Amino acid sequence: MFMTFDFVNLAYLIAAVLFILGLKGLTHPRSAVRGNLYGAVAMLIAVVVTLVDQELLNLPVLIGGMAGGAAIGAVFALTIKMTAMPQLVGLFNGFGGGASVLVAAAALIQAVGIISGAGAGGLDLQISISTVLSAIIGAVTFTGSVVAFAKLQGLVTEQPVRYRGEQIVKILVGGLTVAVAVLVILDPADMSLFWVLAGIAGLLGLLLVVPIGGADMPIVIALLNSYSGLAAAATGFVLSNTILIISGSLVGASGIILTQIMCKAMNRSLANVLFGGMGAIPEKASTDDIYAGKTKSTNADEVAMILKIARRVVFVPGYGMAVARAQSAVRQLTEAMEADGITVEFGIHPVAGRMPGHMNVLLAEEAISYDKLKEMDQINPTFKNTDVTIVIGANDVVNPSAREAGGPISGMPILDVDQSRTVVVIKRSLSPGFAGIPNPLFTFDNTLMLFGDGKKAVDDLVQAYKEA
Ligand code: TAP
Repeated sequence: MFMTFDFVNLAYLIAAVLFILGLKGLTHPRSAVRGNLYGAVAMLIAVVVTLVDQELLNLPVLIGGMAGGAAIGAVFALTIKMTAMPQLVGLFNGFGGGASVLVAAAALIQAVGIISGAGAGGLDLQISISTVLSAIIGAVTFTGSVVAFAKLQGLVTEQPVRYRGEQIVKILVGGLTVAVAVLVILDPADMSLFWVLAGIAGLLGLLLVVPIGGADMPIVIALLNSYSGLAAAATGFVLSNTILIISGSLVGASGIILTQIMCKAMNRSLANVLFGGMGAIPEKASTDDIYAGKTKSTNADEVAMILKIARRVVFVPGYGMAVARAQSAVRQLTEAMEADGITVEFGIHPVAGRMPGHMNVLLAEEAISYDKLKEMDQINPTFKNTDVTIVIGANDVVNPSAREAGGPISGMPILDVDQSRTVVVIKRSLSPGFAGIPNPLFTFDNTLMLFGDGKKAVDDLVQAYKEA
């Protein structure tokens, strides 16, 4: 060992504190960059101290590996579209899980080699149980994340795939996983058993995610993120590495808290997401039956006139604003209205867009003040005093059918935009949102539909507003 035990643990303690400060920083857009920086420094300390402590100082391999990894990460970060972020996060979770399986395998090979060389009868129970847990959780995370990635990327159907006897199949495969895990603990020297265990656990991950789809996918991604942390924590026990146990536990805990927040935002229980029949796509009613003759179209000039006499305007952005990259035009319209003394705020739904904080990130890119971004609970009581609400590319998060029982988004809290005096909905057509269901808001008396691409529509509005 190059370093004393005390120094290593002190360095790990500093890294752990920085990880926690980093997570705290990430809870608010204003401190998020600083939080990220703390996390990166903590990771650097953890990696360098571990490498030096374990005397893993083969510099060409290390530098080559880190440079290769950094280059791949940079390419992903620079080229990925904001709208494809959930599947990228999903894939990275999967890599974490896969890595845990491989590290567990390597640790087992090494430990068994040492023991058989020394003629000992078996592995320390703590090591064998953690190895088995690392393999199971890692494999479930890997295959589950690959399926989630394929669904969100549109490589396989996004719909939930359900079949008769689904729960029994899952219970049987779960039971088989536990049985093989016991065999691996009893006979850790048999590596083929270890790979059978990883294979069966991988099948379990597949079976758990395939039946989930539609609006439940973000919850699954957050849950798999939590699993990848738990897998890393288990690997930390395998390697007796304190900082891996701590950081894995932090990822596991924060992932499960995020899962809980998202379940609450969609009024679902986790058990219901994982095992319930929800997420199913409803039978399609003909759009004509629902909307025919009941929607009112408008144009930029008419909306500009309505805005001119407004005192309070609220924007409700959704996924379509991200697709259209309309945030810059939205900022220009905001500035023009504020110059006329109009109060402008933004209502942000917790699952608007396609990833947590999606809308905050887009609006922050435009340096729109955080004070104007209001969460659902803050903005909802203000809609009745709002002259105009401009819904741009949002659909499910403003769908009043969530207030009625029996539908796929029933009970999901929504932004009560229909309580404003006038609602202007900017979207290209009457197509549904992520949940695939019609939106009665479009037929309400106080709703005007401004059809068009989000960016083009708001650009036109800015011009019309300035000319009005
Ligand atoms: P959605 O309900 O998905 O609706 C988006 C709307 O944007 C569509 O109806 C679409 O209508 C419109 N649109 C698309 N491209 C556009 C463009 N270029 N210009 C203007 N409009 C455009 O969005 P939402 O209200 O933000 O709700 C989010 C949904 O995604 C929820 O169901 C949520 O559960 C789910 N989800 C959320 C997350 C997270 S964590 N935020 C992750 C995955 C899924 P047109 O085609 O007619 O234009």
